Amino acid sequence: MRDGEQTPGVALTVDEKIQIARALDELGVDVIEAGFPITSPGEYEAVKRISRLGLNASICALARTNIKDMELALDADVDRVHVFIATSDIHLKYKLGISREEAVRRAVDSIEFLRSHGVEVEFSAEDATRSDLDFLEEIYSAAIDAGAGFLDIPDTVGIAKPEFIRDIVSRVVSIARDRIVSVHCHNDFGLATTNSIAGVLAGARQVHVTINGIGERAGNASLEEVVMALKILYGYEIGVRTEKLVEVSRLVSRLTGVPVQPNKAIVGRNAFGHESGIHTHGILRNPATYEPFPPELVGARRWLAVGKHAGSHGIRAKLAEMGYEVSEDQLKIIVSRVKMLGDMGRRVTDSDLAEIAGEILGSKSCSDIYARVEGMRIENLGERVRLAMMITVGGIQREIYGEGRSAIEASIDAIRKLLRQHDLEIDSYSVRVEQVGDGVNAESIVVIRTNNGRQITAASIKQDIYWAIAEAAVRALNIYSKTY
Ligand code: KIV
Ligand code: ZN
Repeated sequence: MRDGEQTPGVALTVDEKIQIARALDELGVDVIEAGFPITSPGEYEAVKRISRLGLNASICALARTNIKDMELALDADVDRVHVFIATSDIHLKYKLGISREEAVRRAVDSIEFLRSHGVEVEFSAEDATRSDLDFLEEIYSAAIDAGAGFLDIPDTVGIAKPEFIRDIVSRVVSIARDRIVSVHCHNDFGLATTNSIAGVLAGARQVHVTINGIGERAGNASLEEVVMALKILYGYEIGVRTEKLVEVSRLVSRLTGVPVQPNKAIVGRNAFGHESGIHTHGILRNPATYEPFPPELVGARRWLAVGKHAGSHGIRAKLAEMGYEVSEDQLKIIVSRVKMLGDMGRRVTDSDLAEIAGEILGSKSCSDIYARVEGMRIENLGERVRLAMMITVGGIQREIYGEGRSAIEASIDAIRKLLRQHDLEIDSYSVRVEQVGDGVNAESIVVIRTNNGRQITAASIKQDIYWAIAEAAVRALNIYSKTY
């Protein structure tokens, strides 16, 4: 919650930080670095309120070796203070303008000061991986003598190779006596997870991670990757309730506004999605053919995509999931229509498949099985926009209101209200706008999620973006209503 929030452009309110802290605690993490109290009054308040929530996790605050930083961290009532000072020559010379001896003196004085106030102390030698190794050994030894219980090794600019992490961790472990050695890996070369694992294999017993791998620049090691790799690949016992990983990932993404890339390991939308005919055929016979572990283990759900790579087995299974029974001949036509759409460069959504199946089976369009958008009314309220969505749901005409800074936001607000009544959520949406003559065509694809993790995709093309999003979401709702 500290380095994660240092993601460029991210700022959380006190209430949002509290929400994330509770979620992390339910996830079962051991320590929550709740913030850096000196940053702002809001940050200080957030850390203090999180400390008083009575969570199972230890609450930690970050501090430099300045007295003000440390006093604020102590005032926030935390269990642990994570105090750091840079140790690489480049940081000592250009950032701090101090000697190595002065860095050791500051580290020792700070740790002793913090220990005299009864808190646990974690010490980080910032930029450790670019520091002189003999000096590093000297400062960690001094930190141990001063009372630090945790020795963290930050790869601050993410330049370490896994074999270097192994060596540096082994070296610190060899002088650590009974102290816990920790690693803090940044992802500048995409090695943060690998390096964290290398650290654990060399004896580190604490790993700094963030949900979704967010953080400064290219981010930090991601909690979900490190936990699942340690658990599944290396057989470590980890206290994390892995079945909550997707839920917490979504919460952090929503509150920080940082989307999770679809192909993100463990929690990405595609992590358990299968499209190609060969894969879906295998998956339908035995999911282990193309999955490293069952999606339920991380709170995800397997899903089959339709598209140009799909085969008849996958499309039949998908149709059955959507409530369509088709003959062999009908299936052949549907498969060729799906591949045609794919060849045109289109992402084939569930609503496209439902339209094709409906046409071939002569059943109703998925635009109006259960709910249909009849109209939209927009009112400008100065800085804000109010939108009334006229909609028929289950044969009853209703108006659902939404508000936001734009018609798009207001439309999404109204859609969220409608979906929530069915225990559904918007997972994601995208819009592609194309100039057509004097006007535009807006094509929206919306993914909604059921409370048991099933995803339904739907598309719509309209002249207004807000309308295209609303209609696509309602189509997804129609598919849901047909099969539940
Ligand atoms: O990356 C880093 O060096 C840090 C320290 C404050 C531990 O985040
Ligand atoms: Zn960091």
